[in-house]
Amino acid sequence: MIDLIPEVATKRLVLGVTGGVAAYKAAELVRLLVKNGIEVQVVMTEAARHFVGPATFQALSGKPVLTDLWDGGSTNGMTHIDLTRNADAVLIAPASADFLAKLAHGAADDLLSTLCLARSCPLLVAPAMNREMWGNPATQRNILQLKRDGVAIFGPDSGPQACGETGMGRMVEPQTLVENIDSFWYPKRLQGKRVLITAGPTFEAIDAVRGITNLSSGKMGYAVARAAIEAGASVTLISGPTCLTPPSAAKTLAVTSAQQMLEAVNGVIADADIFISVAAVADYYVLNPSEQKIKKDAHIFTLELAPNPDIVANVMNLPDPPFCVGFAAESENLYEFAEAKRKRKNLPLLAANLVQDAIGSDQSELILFDDEGAHPLQRAPKIELARQLIEHIAKLYHKERGQN
Ligand code: PMT
Repeated sequence: MIDLIPEVATKRLVLGVTGGVAAYKAAELVRLLVKNGIEVQVVMTEAARHFVGPATFQALSGKPVLTDLWDGGSTNGMTHIDLTRNADAVLIAPASADFLAKLAHGAADDLLSTLCLARSCPLLVAPAMNREMWGNPATQRNILQLKRDGVAIFGPDSGPQACGETGMGRMVEPQTLVENIDSFWYPKRLQGKRVLITAGPTFEAIDAVRGITNLSSGKMGYAVARAAIEAGASVTLISGPTCLTPPSAAKTLAVTSAQQMLEAVNGVIADADIFISVAAVADYYVLNPSEQKIKKDAHIFTLELAPNPDIVANVMNLPDPPFCVGFAAESENLYEFAEAKRKRKNLPLLAANLVQDAIGSDQSELILFDDEGAHPLQRAPKIELARQLIEHIAKLYHKERGQN
């Protein structure tokens, strides 16, 4: 039987920007959120407009920026109510000390503070201020009150500040904030589980400068790592050479060759509940690679190749293996070859994609094969496919281990 797995719904966020130097970082935050498929409505306080102009946020979010309680553009004059009714969350970034005080006391004297009071969705704040303002007992009392009220607080970070001082009070970096937001609103289906993921290509040296590799970018494996973190898992990512920044919450181990990837996996596999093998591991390595750059001459050059170890097969052969998930990239007969690969490798779950569609791309299609049959996932950005894959893994894992 073929089950269709529904697409993940688009998330809507109201982003409140308050007055502080870190308001410039909110522009990058909007760019990243929109890139991740999140609809962003920016609301600025009067003070925020002294730091960054609304035109920047309008260009990045594709929506007019709202600042005025009396001129919000809603026909019934209820902008402060309407704005949050369809939103999945309100995020204040940066949240100044003054705005935190307003939130803690329920003050509502402008559009942003009023909509925070009138909202029915979760409130998230990313404080940003001078270290003395952060350390002030009044601010700490306000933060404590907000935590008691169920507000999620992201940061602040410690480091050099715009005022020239160094300490606690820097706004969390936009990329980390995006990860925090994703983690906040996705269901914690893998809470407390330890997930090991391999990603990217491997590189098998021929000489000091050349090698055999493939076109895997690491995007799928890194997306799976992010989705597992969002689901509450603690993630170890073993990555071949890529240009990507790993999720900040993952423990990342960088490797080059298939042999190194195998050794890294062997070093941590005993601590894994789930192993997801996304990496495009080279099937062969070069026997006797040269330490020096090989000089060109007129003769035919022959490479002697030997098969690499099969990492996923090694894991499956352990006496007490974790729940194992394989991937397969095929250039033809996807259904037939992928299911045959799953059976041959004795895997409970295998995710298959067409190599010409999936490798290096930002979007693709995926078909999940398990004992129940094939489950096609519609074309989507890799992070959305990864979220659906993680959801499916959690379902099978809990069923197999007899947990909810
Ligand atoms: O990185 P991207 O650009 O985002 O592209 C993603 C991807 C196309 C690489 C990814 O989605 C994917 O399909 N990865 C598997 C690539 C592949 O073809 O695997 P395979 O058919 O060679 O191997 C099957 C399974 O065995 C895979 O889980 C693989 O990680 C594993 N394997 C393979 C060989 C080996 N020596 N050890 C292994 O563990």
